[in-house]
Amino acid sequence: MQLFLDTTDVAVLRDLAMTGLVDGVTTNPTLIAKSGRPMLQVIAEICDAVEGPVSAEVAAMDTVGMLDEGRKLAGIAPNVVVKVPLTRDGLIAVREFAHEGIATNVTLCFSASQALLAAKAGASYISPFIGRLDDHGADGMDLIMEIRAIYDNYDFDTEILAASIRSPAHVAAAALAGSDCATIPPDVFNALFKHPLTERGLDQFMSDWAKTGQSIL
Ligand code: E4P
Repeated sequence: MQLFLDTTDVAVLRDLAMTGLVDGVTTNPTLIAKSGRPMLQVIAEICDAVEGPVSAEVAAMDTVGMLDEGRKLAGIAPNVVVKVPLTRDGLIAVREFAHEGIATNVTLCFSASQALLAAKAGASYISPFIGRLDDHGADGMDLIMEIRAIYDNYDFDTEILAASIRSPAHVAAAALAGSDCATIPPDVFNALFKHPLTERGLDQFMSDWAKTGQSIL
């Protein structure tokens, strides 16, 4: 399973990328606004910090505008993936991007039928929003399972990118449901390393080791 970082904070990204566990990055207009920095500059820096796919989202609402913006974003670096909203105009743009060999991530997916259309349009990634579905009273993980079944039924190449992740439990559940990737906020990514029993066990081991008075080196 590929793990992406959902961030526009380049310093945080560089720090986590040192682990070798960050396979790519996703961004969105909200995260760009949060950075307070020019989007094109932020995306260029992120693309420099990671080798894997970096999703950069268009802001236009119409197909022609999305195509113009997407081509410009794709020109920043070879690892840019153009992120497009799951609308009628968006999927027409995705189809054209596919013909041009530009990778796409279709975002704001909340139903299996939307995911089916995105795959038919030739999306490289589909982003079902797990946390926002949970917030809405549904079970976001059901959607991942439905999309997995549909894509497997028809051998679609579109990769499932579980988004709007809120917890380590979401990451594990998405992996169990067969998601190809998950995009994870930095605080949740850091939480993936941790378990209270790991910390307690390590404290005990270190305390007992100190009592031996030994040194390995
Ligand atoms: C990533 O591609 C999505 O834009 C992001 O995961 C959305 O997360 P949120 O629902 O926490 O804003």
